[in-house]
Amino acid sequence: MHNAKLFNLLYLLFVYLFSCNNKHNINNDKINILINNHSYSNYRENPLQHLFLDLEINFNKKIFKGTATLYFHHYWQQESIILDTKGLNVMQIMDETNQKLEFWYAAEDSILGKALKIIVPHRTKNITIFYETTAQSDAIQWLTPEQTFGKTLPFVSTQSQAILARSWIPLQDVPAVRFTYAAKIKTDIAVLPLMSAINPQSKNDSNMYYFNMPQAIPSYLMALCAGDLVFSALGDSCGVYADPKQIAACEYEFSDLENMISNAANLYGPYQWGRYDMVILPPSFPFGGMENPRLTFATPTIITGDRSLVSLVAHELAHSWSGNLVTNETWSDFWLNEGFTVYFESRIMEQLYGKMYSEMLTELGKQELLKTIAYLKTTQYDDTKLYLNLKNRNPDDAVTDIAYEKGRFFLLLIEKTVGRKNFDVFLKNYFLKKSFKTINTAQFINLLNEELLSKNPIWKNSININQWIFENGLPENCPIINSSELNRAEMDANTWLRRNVLPNTKNYTTHHWLHFFRSLKKLPSTLQIKTIDSVYHFTGIANAEIACDWYQLCINAKYKAAYPAMTEYLKKIGRRKFLLPLYGALVKTESGKVLANDIFNQAIKGYHAVSIHSIKQILN
Ligand code: BES
Ligand code: ZN
Repeated sequence: MHNAKLFNLLYLLFVYLFSCNNKHNINNDKINILINNHSYSNYRENPLQHLFLDLEINFNKKIFKGTATLYFHHYWQQESIILDTKGLNVMQIMDETNQKLEFWYAAEDSILGKALKIIVPHRTKNITIFYETTAQSDAIQWLTPEQTFGKTLPFVSTQSQAILARSWIPLQDVPAVRFTYAAKIKTDIAVLPLMSAINPQSKNDSNMYYFNMPQAIPSYLMALCAGDLVFSALGDSCGVYADPKQIAACEYEFSDLENMISNAANLYGPYQWGRYDMVILPPSFPFGGMENPRLTFATPTIITGDRSLVSLVAHELAHSWSGNLVTNETWSDFWLNEGFTVYFESRIMEQLYGKMYSEMLTELGKQELLKTIAYLKTTQYDDTKLYLNLKNRNPDDAVTDIAYEKGRFFLLLIEKTVGRKNFDVFLKNYFLKKSFKTINTAQFINLLNEELLSKNPIWKNSININQWIFENGLPENCPIINSSELNRAEMDANTWLRRNVLPNTKNYTTHHWLHFFRSLKKLPSTLQIKTIDSVYHFTGIANAEIACDWYQLCINAKYKAAYPAMTEYLKKIGRRKFLLPLYGALVKTESGKVLANDIFNQAIKGYHAVSIHSIKQILN
């Protein structure tokens, strides 16, 4: 008995000592789980103020390794600091006096990762964390030279939104905390690294680069990429980075960039971030664009040679106000980022290219919104609310057209109700007043009521804010758009279907074709498909938007001649928006399921973790 007790005590002591130094041990108690904020961190007690990263990008081992020094707002009064991590290997943590600090990991959560608990023995303001990333660092995508445009050097990029910053930096991973940062980035091969910060414009000989980000940003805007990149100026304070073999095409495609920026600033106040540059990533980038401050990350699938997809640039640029300047407080408030941005994007497009063009885009958005609502009605109807319930969910899984398009139409309704002039005054003031701050849905409603709708009681009643934000579906007062250009494409589609007459495609843009395909009331005959393909060469087309709609039609019509090109497309492109509808169309039949799995297995090495996650949900 006695011996057993002593043994137990010794054993406990051993476990305790071991756990102090060993990262694999689990200590769950006292860790405060704030699932609604998708963060384990105790950020409210002492928010991060500044971050210094000293990292080496090791292409050989496919890891980042180095230190993150966190400068907090004030001295820690609490006994511990809790940070978010996911797939990180933390070796050591020190305070500002170089004293080693004890730390533990909590049990891993598949969505939130592992809380890292650090004991602060005395007054501490800064800590330095020695760490490396791992293959489980889902933000990071490593690509071989073959997966890039020029095929000469490997490429790496990060995607932090929504909750993946923690998989390459240990920090308080919540949009409600803003901090400035600086970084020293070393690379093991001669690539050009870029960040969401003040960037170099060319390579140096030392493979060592210094970055500074003087404006405070939330963690989801932390970004880093590196590869065979060159810079080309598109104006005094804007430009594009791309593969040397692709830079000329980018110069042509984005020639309106400077114009876009000045138009945006005219609408809602000065651009606050210094330069606005873009970097064109390899095609496996999982998104169309990501609004990393000072440096938008963009998919090469918008380079069509005819400038027809530049609304994506307007979108990411608009985030420099909605999102980056005024930031959603939680991911449930995501519509405040995206809905505002789509509305703003549309205003930029109208100013640059006219009402006819912007209305065409708005009407296409409406069609997608209706499709999304119809789909969610049978699956997750509650996700049609603007304010999302994300309890125990990955915010990425609730990203649909709702935040974007229902959000946009809600704002458009307000504009149409109060008049554009009044709404613009309100918005300009909103961006000014809330700059470098966060906003939640309740605060927005209050502001809207106090500063705009209170001016006229009729406005408030006719809008019905609560129905738009907290109820399912699309309210009946949703604005109606009538795009003459899209009407034309719709008529063309049905004339072709019924009378076999091919459309007169003079002045047809990407969007006419998209609407053409989407307006088909039934499946065309195989002969019709063959004929239209032989005339317009859709199979293998370089325009990724048209290709996506075309291949869906081919799958539904079992037009197998297009399958080899479609397979190549699915292996090359990693953009979730294109992958999901195609895999979704394939799995509708048994033979399609087999093909989908086969293609997925071939393509997976080119996909980003977030795309893999979404496709797996479809395949199962
Ligand atoms: N911020 C988003 C991308 C995003 C959203 C990443 C949620 C992770 C989680 C970006 O601004 C965006 O909306 N991109 C769109 C393009 C846009 C034109 C609608 C995309 O990637 O398709
Ligand atoms: Zn966006």
